[in-house]
Amino acid sequence: MSTSGIVYRPRRLRTTPRMRRLVAEHRLHAADLVLPLFVKEGLTEPAPISSMPGQVQHTEESLADAVAQATRAGVGGIMLFGIPAVRDARGSAGDDADGILQRGIRVARQAVAAVEAESGRPGPVVMADTCLDEFTDHGHCGVLAADGTVDNDATLERYASMAVAQAKAGTEVVAPSGMMDGQVAVIRDALDDAGFEHVGILAYSAKYASAFYGPFREAVDSALQGDRRTYQMDAANAREGLREADLDLAEGADMVMVKPAGTSLDVLRGVADRTDVPVAAYQVSGEYAMIEAAAANGWIDRRGAILESVLAIKRAGADLILTYWAVEIAGWLD
Ligand code: PBG
Repeated sequence: MSTSGIVYRPRRLRTTPRMRRLVAEHRLHAADLVLPLFVKEGLTEPAPISSMPGQVQHTEESLADAVAQATRAGVGGIMLFGIPAVRDARGSAGDDADGILQRGIRVARQAVAAVEAESGRPGPVVMADTCLDEFTDHGHCGVLAADGTVDNDATLERYASMAVAQAKAGTEVVAPSGMMDGQVAVIRDALDDAGFEHVGILAYSAKYASAFYGPFREAVDSALQGDRRTYQMDAANAREGLREADLDLAEGADMVMVKPAGTSLDVLRGVADRTDVPVAAYQVSGEYAMIEAAAANGWIDRRGAILESVLAIKRAGADLILTYWAVEIAGWLD
């Protein structure tokens, strides 16, 4: 008989590192991590992004090096964003066969293939952001109607064309992130018609209008006029995020994403519980910047905060995690 009267002692399973390791419910793997990368047209040197210490806008050459490094680190994917030299109202560079994102995709595929050939191990899946905001002079994710609102259906035609241009350049997955209604269906049709049935769609399904995208605006030199609240979701809504995921799945999404990750863990759990497709979550630029800034001031333990934040996203149901720390974390897991 217990003299203390305490029957259950959960602390037993926390006594030693080896015990804690044995009973860990979730573990991070490099292959679950996806590294977002920025490539900018006309750069001669990689350009640091001041609000994202440690991240840069890449030249095509430095992109190749970064992709090779990610491949050696064993990360599961890379997500490419392009920053064009010239922007216009319709985002013409977005579907130009020689546009910076298409060039970046070709560079990335080559870099992955080269390291795979030397190591004999699979490298990251190459994915591309399929959205107009990096390419439009007004900074919105779509084309504008005469009254200045974002024109949903006219934008869909642009996304379809972008997705096909990205597929021709060799992307393995397109990732529509503009939150236009019907975007997944239109892109699926366009890819299939062009003979790219095998190219997958990672849909940014529950994407919130978020203050945490702030540093990303610097990363892509965005000149956004106004805000994105007529197409990205209101942080007040969780059920609506589940509905967005359902619609994207019905339209043919192969994977669905919730974003930003850290402020949407409830929605992430909800989406993970109702679908059998892989679920991704994006730990966005502002989440990165907050931890880097606090750590730089000595206010939090950097490595501990990074691992805890990413593990929380995994625990909430993410199969894939987009994080700017992907390569660094992969190094810690070795
Ligand atoms: C849209 C896009 C954005 C991000 C990823 N894709 C910006 C936005 O929607 O405003 C943000 C990512 C981040 O903040 O890290 N092309």
